[in-house]
Amino acid sequence: MAAEVIYGDQLAQSLREAMKEEVTALKEEGLQPRLVVVLIGDDPASRSYVSGKQKAADFIGIDSELITLPDSTTEEALLSLISKLNQDQSVNGILVQLPLPKQINEQAIIEAIDPSKDVDGFHPISIGRMLTGQETFLPCTPFGIITMLKSKEIDLEGKHAVIVGRSNIVGKPVGQLLLNEHATVTYTHSRTKDMQALTKKADVLVVAVGRAGMITQEYVKPGAVVIDVGVNRTEAGTLTGDVDFESVREVASYITPVPKGVGPMTITMLMKNTIKACVNQNK
Ligand code: GUN
Repeated sequence: MAAEVIYGDQLAQSLREAMKEEVTALKEEGLQPRLVVVLIGDDPASRSYVSGKQKAADFIGIDSELITLPDSTTEEALLSLISKLNQDQSVNGILVQLPLPKQINEQAIIEAIDPSKDVDGFHPISIGRMLTGQETFLPCTPFGIITMLKSKEIDLEGKHAVIVGRSNIVGKPVGQLLLNEHATVTYTHSRTKDMQALTKKADVLVVAVGRAGMITQEYVKPGAVVIDVGVNRTEAGTLTGDVDFESVREVASYITPVPKGVGPMTITMLMKNTIKACVNQNK
């Protein structure tokens, strides 16, 4: 039987509608959630993410400002902007779009953001809190994935989750969140020997490597839940995931598509974190 498709775009839309009501109520209390996005250079992929963020914020009623800086921006200039945004009480959330140009130390920038405004959940303090199961900002893509799994009431306790990819943004934190949900987690990556033997054991398979169609049916255990985080552009200019959707959907129990899968959820969780930042800062 073909897998049930988990449409992130539909779930994202219903969450955004609920957030819109929440923001309306906050506005009645005199609070206006505000997000500042900093974009350096003009990488087309980054531009497209950023425009998706603006659209979601507009719909929900979050005030979102985009600051665009040239590719030649220095680390000092960016640090000084972050310091200004940290001090600005009208700014609830700060997001610096990654990747950054070579002359800027990415980690120094992440660590300069006030953890109370770290809506990306990338600051070491946020990561440490997540690791120890404390209340914090969760990184948006992993948070979106867990929300998608919960929306289908997929039981994670005692399940074997296998992660393909070990990025700081997706692979590492999604494994941690699945562990917090009592799954047994295996990380695989480019140096893993016999990856297929491991992915074939997964009850939940999360793929985030950026290689179009890499995960074919042969990598998947019948009945597995398959989450595709890959966003790859085909020669024809369309988007495609890391999972070979058509072959894998024949064996999986649930599968996420690309597009309309994890992507819209990432943006939605950013909005959720921004509202949370606003509420926490005004307690
Ligand atoms: N680049 C790709 N994904 C992300 C993200 O979630 N946050 C930031 N800041 N940059 C990104």
